[in-house]
Amino acid sequence: MSSNRNRHFLTLHDLGRDELLELLERGERVRTGEDGRGRPLEGRTLAMIFQKSSTRTRVSFEAGMTQLGGAGIFLSPRDTQIGRGEPAPDTARVLSEYVDAIMIRTFDHADVEELARWSSIPVINGLTDLVHPCQLLADLLTLRQHFGKDWLEGLRVAWVGDGNNMANSWLNAAAILGFELRLAVPEGYDPDRETLARARDRASVHLVREPAEAVEGVDVVTTDVWASMGQEEEAQERLRAFAGYRVDAELMDRASDRAVFLHCLPAHRGEEVTAEVVDGPRSLIFQEAGNRLHAQKALLLHLLT
Ligand code: CP
Ligand code: NVA
Repeated sequence: MSSNRNRHFLTLHDLGRDELLELLERGERVRTGEDGRGRPLEGRTLAMIFQKSSTRTRVSFEAGMTQLGGAGIFLSPRDTQIGRGEPAPDTARVLSEYVDAIMIRTFDHADVEELARWSSIPVINGLTDLVHPCQLLADLLTLRQHFGKDWLEGLRVAWVGDGNNMANSWLNAAAILGFELRLAVPEGYDPDRETLARARDRASVHLVREPAEAVEGVDVVTTDVWASMGQEEEAQERLRAFAGYRVDAELMDRASDRAVFLHCLPAHRGEEVTAEVVDGPRSLIFQEAGNRLHAQKALLLHLLT
């Protein structure tokens, strides 16, 4: 089996607190052009396996590699042997012969773990049904930029909606950084049990059923689609289950005066969030999307240099 000594980024828990904070600082330096200059990844290649659709993740990783002097190769299941069932251990060992890192977006988190086990190069999780850690790097970087250097002091975040991969990722972020996280999730759609328990051990985490209760006085309100990729058939049922969980102006008014709105995108205006909020003055969604590029460039530099 391949060496285990190389670094992977499968969940935020692959980083310690200091390492995560340093990575965010580096993301900011990359954004301002102080870091990442001079083609530091010249001649290096990132293989990008996408078993689900993507706009932001694909383009930010590919553009990020180009800007750092390297290259990204997009691999879709439609035209690679991955889609015809070539086993992950074989794919991992073959790609390890050609490229310097692998980014994968897929369904089952265990598949990413298996790929990483057999890979002798770093593996980056570009979203699984369990977590979306690259998105959290961008979200945290956005909060750091917006609230300034004391951004973590007394920070309170509310999650409204599905207990999905993004909710689980916020739980991991709270566990590592120790901020207060309140989640308003309808019964039957709770976050991953283990992820929730771990976060509850390490941070002030509250799971409630009422959005108004979660949002009261918080600094950040965030949500995501009600039906994630792979849940298309449940969409109608989910529309009913989440009907009381829309982030609207009235709900935002319960948050603190300085509260901002985040969404990983794509957003469904009129479902999980109103157009008034997502396109309103408190929304940081495009800064957040832009930070995918800076945060991931910092991550690539961290893993590859
Ligand atoms: N937020 C996010 O990961 O977007 P994509 O699905 O477009 O990559
Ligand atoms: N929860 C969403 C996030 C998309 C970036 C999904 O998994 O489809």
